[in-house]
This record gives sequence, C-alpha cells and structure tokens, in this order.
Amino acid sequence: MAGALQTELTKRLGCRYPVVQTAMGWVADPKLVAATTNAGGFGFLAGATIEPGQIEAAILEVKALTKGPFGVNFHMFQPNAGEVIDMVLRHGVRAVSYGRGPDAATIKRFKDAGIVCMPTVGAVKHAIKAVELGADIITIQGSEGGGHTGSVPTTILLPQVLDAVKVPVVAAGGFYDGRGLAAALAFGAAGIAMGTRFLMTAESPVNPATLSAYLATREAGQIRVTTAVDGLPQRFVENEAIRRLEGMTGFARLVASMRHAHKWGREAGMSYPKMAKLAWTSMTSDGSSFAQTVMAPNLPTLVRKGLVEGDIKTGLLPAGQVASAIGALPACADLIETIMRDATGRLAALAALSSQSSSETERS
Ligand SMILES: Cc1cc2nc3c(=O)[nH]c(=O)nc-3n(C[C@H](O)[C@H](O)[C@H](O)COP(=O)(O)O)c2cc1C
Repeated sequence: MAGALQTELTKRLGCRYPVVQTAMGWVADPKLVAATTNAGGFGFLAGATIEPGQIEAAILEVKALTKGPFGVNFHMFQPNAGEVIDMVLRHGVRAVSYGRGPDAATIKRFKDAGIVCMPTVGAVKHAIKAVELGADIITIQGSEGGGHTGSVPTTILLPQVLDAVKVPVVAAGGFYDGRGLAAALAFGAAGIAMGTRFLMTAESPVNPATLSAYLATREAGQIRVTTAVDGLPQRFVENEAIRRLEGMTGFARLVASMRHAHKWGREAGMSYPKMAKLAWTSMTSDGSSFAQTVMAPNLPTLVRKGLVEGDIKTGLLPAGQVASAIGALPACADLIETIMRDATGRLAALAALSSQSSSETERS
C-alpha cells in the first residue's frame, strides 16, 4: 500500500488518498464508487442519471460494498432532485457534488447534517459564487475535462481559483497519473479529481465496444467540444453522431430533440405537464435558453446509446481529452496505488532538487 498523503481533502472527506473519482452519468455506479473508495480514493455516485425511485437502492448498494465514505452528485433541475436530497440526508452520505447547484438554504441543510458540499466550477466567478453560497471545497474543471466543460484550461483556472477563494481547491480536467497529482499539489491544490481515467478502468460499467473505442482514440484533437447536443459546450470523441447533429438545420434538430424528449420523459415516468414544468423551471431559474431547454433531452438518450448500448456510431461518447493518453483499463486499486507511488516519487525528487539547490547556494 502506498504511503498516506494527508491534505485538507483527505481530512474533510475521510479518505486515505487525495484522489477523487468524479460523478459520470451511466458510469459512476455503485460498483465503481465502492471500488474507488475501497482503494483509498473517494468516489461520487452519479445521482443525476439514476432513475427516480432508485436512488436509495443505489446508495444502499454502495454501503453494502464498502465501509468507506463516498459522495453523491446531482443537479437541481433533474426531475427527482428532492428525492436525492432526502436520501443523501437520510443515509449520512459524506459529501455532495453539483454543478448547476442548490440554493443557500439547501446547502445549509447539507452542512447542518455534516455533509461536505463540493461543487465543480469551470470559471473563477462561479467558484466565488459557490463559496458565497456555502461550498466547503471547490473542484475546478479545466476545459480539457470531460462532460460539460468551460473554456479555461486547468493550468490557468487552478491558480486563478486558488487565489480567489479561501476553501480547499481540488483540480480536475486532464489528470490521469502520479505526475499530475504531484503537479496539482505543487500548485497548492488539495488533491485531484478524475472522470475519464475512472471511466477507463476494469470496474467501469461502460460497454466493452465503447471502451475499445476510447482506447483507440489516440489524438487529443479527436475529443472536442460541441454545443450541438444540448446547447451547452460539452466534450465528446468525434464520431458520426456528432457530425450528424452539427450538420442538422435548426428545424431538424428541434424534431430530433422532441423525439428524444418524448423517449426520455416516458423512461423517467413523467407526464407532459410535468416535463413542461421542468422545462419552464430550467429556463426561469437556471437562465437556460429556449434552445438549450428544448435540446436537453438529446443528451441522456444519445449518451446512453453510446455508453450503455455500445453504439459507437450513432450514440455519443463523452470524454476528456486525457482519454487519448490512456492505453489500458487497470483495476481501480492498481490505478490508485500507482498514482500514489509515482506522485510521492515525484514529490521526493522535487524536495531533493530543492535541498540540493539550497546547499549549493549556501556553499557559493
Ligand atoms: C462520461 C462522462 C459523464 C459525466 N457526467 C457527469 C455528471 O453526471 N455530473 C457531473 O457533475 N459531471 C459529469 N462529468 C464530468 C466529470 O465528473 C469530471 O468533472 C470530468 O470528467 C473531469 O475531467 P477528466 O475527464 O479530464 O478527468 C462527466 C464526464 C464524463 C467523461
């Protein structure tokens, strides 16, 4: 077992190593979360894509597989946000992560229950706002990261946010090895958070055909940002589905979105009035445009096709650019051990370099 490396992150989350497995829809399931947590990292369950009525069962499944602490991810505009909040509070989950976040009153409910609030942001102003609302730890995601992503790279965003907030900051976007962890700690971060690296592990539930497609992606430029899926910038491996969505006229995209909305609503057990209410809430409270609201159902339908059904042509393959640097699917325990060993090795080499330079300066 690699030596412990205590930071504010490990202290607050109660994990052994400063390595977080972030939430990923249809990927961060109870088994992946438990594998990460059992290996000494901290796993977040992807609560935003768990079917209404199933969240409690998923939390209990994680608890049956690990005695370690773990978190749940959600966003306020999912149909069962209230259910997720109740279950997190009822089952004493250690932390919540979120992007389009809960209000200050909901955050206070979490904090009063001792739950660590750890939003992910892609811009300095969002980090400041999140701390004002009560965040305990900020995860920054640089633009190279997977899923919805901003436009500022990790190496620029991380020091900016470290300078702007007083809470611990965790670095995400492009991390996959011990060198990255050592670099993030050298910047002043409290640890790293990784999505794509955990998506590409032995415990990942992603369809084997899709995992092979990720492994075969060797150019970072093939994993690019598009707004053609749900109106917001999001990173995918370029494929037929992306090219087709980008080539559609506005009207064709509207028709496709309506079809996906119908399918998604049926699967989530929602009536048309309930879907309309959700769309209205998204537009009025979240500032989403009409186009973004109409296009939002594209995402779950097409991502599930890619990740779960293994349709690598007409389904979507969300990923960070780091997928192009990953060539194997290790077990989570091996991955975390290797990251920790390499990071401590790099940190020791830097310390040796620094003391050698000081003694040379003293001698001269
Ligand atoms: C397949 C996939 C699904 C994702 N789903 C979510 C999600 O449901 N909620 C969320 O907050 N972030 C989501 N993300 C973003 C990740 O949690 C994480 O912030 C990002 O992957 C970090 O960058 P990296 O991929 O370079 O490690 C997703 C990312 C990927 C690759």
